[in-house]
Amino acid sequence: MSGMLDQIDPLTEEALQALQAAGNLSDLDAARVKYLGVNGQFTALLKQMGSLPKDQRPEAGKRINIAKNKLEGLLAKQKEVLELAACLPTEPTDFTLPGRRPQLGKLHPLTQVTEDIVRSFRKIGFVVADGPEVEDEYHCFDALNTPADHPARDSQDTFYINTPNRPLLRTHTSSVQIRVMENQPPPIRIIVPGRVYRRDTADATHNPTFHQIEGLYVDRNVTLGDMKGTVEFVFKELLGKDVKLRFRPHYFSYTEPSLEIDFSSALTRKMGKEWLEIAGCGMVHPKVFENVGYNPEEWTGWAFGFGIERIAMIRYGINDIRLFYENDLRFLNQF
Ligand code: DAH
Repeated sequence: MSGMLDQIDPLTEEALQALQAAGNLSDLDAARVKYLGVNGQFTALLKQMGSLPKDQRPEAGKRINIAKNKLEGLLAKQKEVLELAACLPTEPTDFTLPGRRPQLGKLHPLTQVTEDIVRSFRKIGFVVADGPEVEDEYHCFDALNTPADHPARDSQDTFYINTPNRPLLRTHTSSVQIRVMENQPPPIRIIVPGRVYRRDTADATHNPTFHQIEGLYVDRNVTLGDMKGTVEFVFKELLGKDVKLRFRPHYFSYTEPSLEIDFSSALTRKMGKEWLEIAGCGMVHPKVFENVGYNPEEWTGWAFGFGIERIAMIRYGINDIRLFYENDLRFLNQF
């Protein structure tokens, strides 16, 4: 039986080499089964222990244990190495390929339309001006020659803030006309995109907050003809060359004469109408010039205001204003 002791080292060596040589996990497992499995060669050697003479058993047990630890250690290490290798791509990786493109965000359709409007006006020398959304009655109404009993000031359709000087959420961007003129002398050529607020119940065409663009042009000898040309240029850029405009007499307290602008194109016909009302405008009222300290005998000007949602609805054929505020991706992804 001393033959058994002699077998330990060569068999261990053979098993170590087989484990080491395994190039993948299934080769490794085959080697494990061959030597360490229930019917493996190494296991068989263990089983022979019982038949050794008593005095040889401690020596044999010690050597077999050392050998077994070595084999199991190598097996575990090889398993780890080969498992990791199995996760790596088999094909070489081309790191110069372009990366995956994440879906980038987009600008909200109202922002896109606003930017287009601003871009058109910039081409003809207008600059963007800004003013506060929480306004005082003076800038929103009085300075614009809107008397205290005017319906526009009705608390029914205005959000007043319940503090002593009664600030309010501006009902239109016209308040910024006053703020700009108070702060700089003519000539003036501004547009004012911004948010406005009115006590409206939301429906397909109304919302308690929406957006407007105000325009103001002040210089010497400014005429209504300048305004017609300007507005026509911008609307044609925005909504197509086939745009036709119609000016109707109207009333605004801060302009005289005052007009409303109707608009017609293939887009309005698509919405089932020949003409759609799109903007208010007029020649700046002399009282307004007086209120900001401009001499109405020297300076002339025109102003206009229109709703951005309205333009976007016509441009894209949208029939419900509330879609702009719901942030439903199925809607937003279309722009
Ligand atoms: N502020 C008006 C509105 O909210 C729009 C408007 C009309 C603005 C005439 C103007 C203007 O500057 O001249 O309906």
